[in-house]
Amino acid sequence: MCGIVGYVGNKEAAVFLLEGLSKLEYRGYDSAGIAVYDGSEIRVEKSVGRLAALKDKIGSNMPKGSLGIGHTRWATHGRPSDSNAHPHADCSGDFVVVHNGIIENYLNLKEELIEKGHAFRSETDTEVVAHLLEEVYHGDFEAAVRDVLRRIDGSYSLVFLSKKHPDRLICTKQDNPLVIGLGEGENFIASDIPAIIQRTRRTFIMNDGEVAVVTKDSVTITNRRGEPVQKKVFEVNWNAEAAEKGGYEHFMLKEIHEQPKAVRDTMSQRIAKDGSAIVIDELKWDAAFLNSFNKIYIVACGTAYHAGMVGKYYIEKLARVLVEVDVASEFRYRDPIVDENTLLIVVSQSGETSDTLAALKESKRLGAKTLAITNVVGSSIAREADQVLYTWAGPEIAVASTKAYTTQLILFFMLALYMAEIKKTVSPERVKELIKLLKQIPAQVSETLSDVDPIKTFARQYGFNEDVFYIGRSLDYDVALEGSLKLKEVSYIHAEAYAAGELKHGTLALIVEGVPVIALATQKSVYEKTLSNIKEVKARDAVVIGIAAEGDEELEKYVDHVIKVPETDELLIPILTVVPLQLLAYYAAITRGCDVDKPRNLAKSVTVE
Ligand code: F6R
Repeated sequence: MCGIVGYVGNKEAAVFLLEGLSKLEYRGYDSAGIAVYDGSEIRVEKSVGRLAALKDKIGSNMPKGSLGIGHTRWATHGRPSDSNAHPHADCSGDFVVVHNGIIENYLNLKEELIEKGHAFRSETDTEVVAHLLEEVYHGDFEAAVRDVLRRIDGSYSLVFLSKKHPDRLICTKQDNPLVIGLGEGENFIASDIPAIIQRTRRTFIMNDGEVAVVTKDSVTITNRRGEPVQKKVFEVNWNAEAAEKGGYEHFMLKEIHEQPKAVRDTMSQRIAKDGSAIVIDELKWDAAFLNSFNKIYIVACGTAYHAGMVGKYYIEKLARVLVEVDVASEFRYRDPIVDENTLLIVVSQSGETSDTLAALKESKRLGAKTLAITNVVGSSIAREADQVLYTWAGPEIAVASTKAYTTQLILFFMLALYMAEIKKTVSPERVKELIKLLKQIPAQVSETLSDVDPIKTFARQYGFNEDVFYIGRSLDYDVALEGSLKLKEVSYIHAEAYAAGELKHGTLALIVEGVPVIALATQKSVYEKTLSNIKEVKARDAVVIGIAAEGDEELEKYVDHVIKVPETDELLIPILTVVPLQLLAYYAAITRGCDVDKPRNLAKSVTVE
């Protein structure tokens, strides 16, 4: 995720660009930049760090001119740095571009453009767009942009500025948001409404494939085929704060709803075009390397640790390698058996959690090979590890982690399958089948999010209970742990998760009439056993909410309510079952009037031990 803005009018562009970017920092904040056409040249100013660093750099020497574009970055390709910050220019400096998204075929394009003599200044995927535009431009700006769009694959929203056409900006989008704000003698472009709401409430919301030519007095929109599109003006009636959350009441809810896109982005570049294999270009692992270690540790904290538990299951099941999972704050102090035959995988959304970082450093000292799974490019953990796999979830603002967890699961699944391909522990047919099911997950997460009313009702019904129990076996148990953590941290309800078979060894004493028990029953191999455990709590008059896959007609006979998620392989179903549990935690917190995005005593990034 990044934030982009554009201005064309008769006022100072830089003023709007900086103001607009300040409202988009929630989309990324590792570097920022603007480009303004001053009547003869395009002046580009950029800086690593937050927008404040860019403002400091510019000081009172603001670029002059009434045509400009700007960007606040959430690094994907290329670490946060001045040179990787947007806008990016072609060789001549005649074209500049800002981009939110990922150009999947940028490496091929880059090679081709370098062969043709283009000189690149950054490590980004975006820069190819500027050079490609220069390459295909023959006097018609819009035609050249369309040519570029035919050549690039991936997700994007893009704004183009050309010195040769100083009366206009051209913008387009595919799978990333873009709005145009309609002013009087001026028009605005932005990733999101908060950037423009101070200037206008009249907007066009762009659809995928549309191309807009924006001048100060007109906006002309055409579709992919170049046919005119008549758009309805969308009047924004939210206040500025609600707009920043995309109309959602809280970042947590917004981020829960961003999961279809987040999981799609995480998987999209890592599947072979024909769907026959997982391709993780970031890793140069071969069978010899994989056979060189005899043990894997997964080390993390909180939600990331819960993702690690699922990761252990995936790697052991698919790649048949022994995995141990540990919380980072314990790992280091128990004198772990780590040597050069160990692979340490650390998982961290922020990439800054100090216990996880310390575990990583200690393991490196002991000779282990290290791999980080993180969401933040250039974070301390990303820099310290030998290898990095990024979850492309975009910035997570709410303290309670949601989209980070589901994207971590996607990445673990893909890593395990990738290892299995190399080690040949899974047949090619099964790999294909699992990839096919994996590709359905984004749509299935959307489906799971499409009917939240029953969950709201449960939250209202049970939101004032003081204790809630979560039970499940196998992968369901791992998800139960995450569900109970979500409920605790945002609603302050005491919640515990148990391996369903473990209840009768003590905890069953706490199950009395009316105590809510959330029972996950999606794992076929232990289904009957889970049913028996559900009967045990029902016999003590617990109220049971079952979580099952579509097609399960059995569970509803034994529980009070059932929430169903779409059917998929039981390995993948945790990515779906966690979604209603996130929503349940959210709506329970709302019922109790809690500050969802900033739960008491907690911080987003825990940089103390
Ligand atoms: C819970 C939550 C925390 C984090 C934990 C690790 O919702 O967000 O438990 O998962 O603090 O943080 P990262 O992943 O940034 O290392």
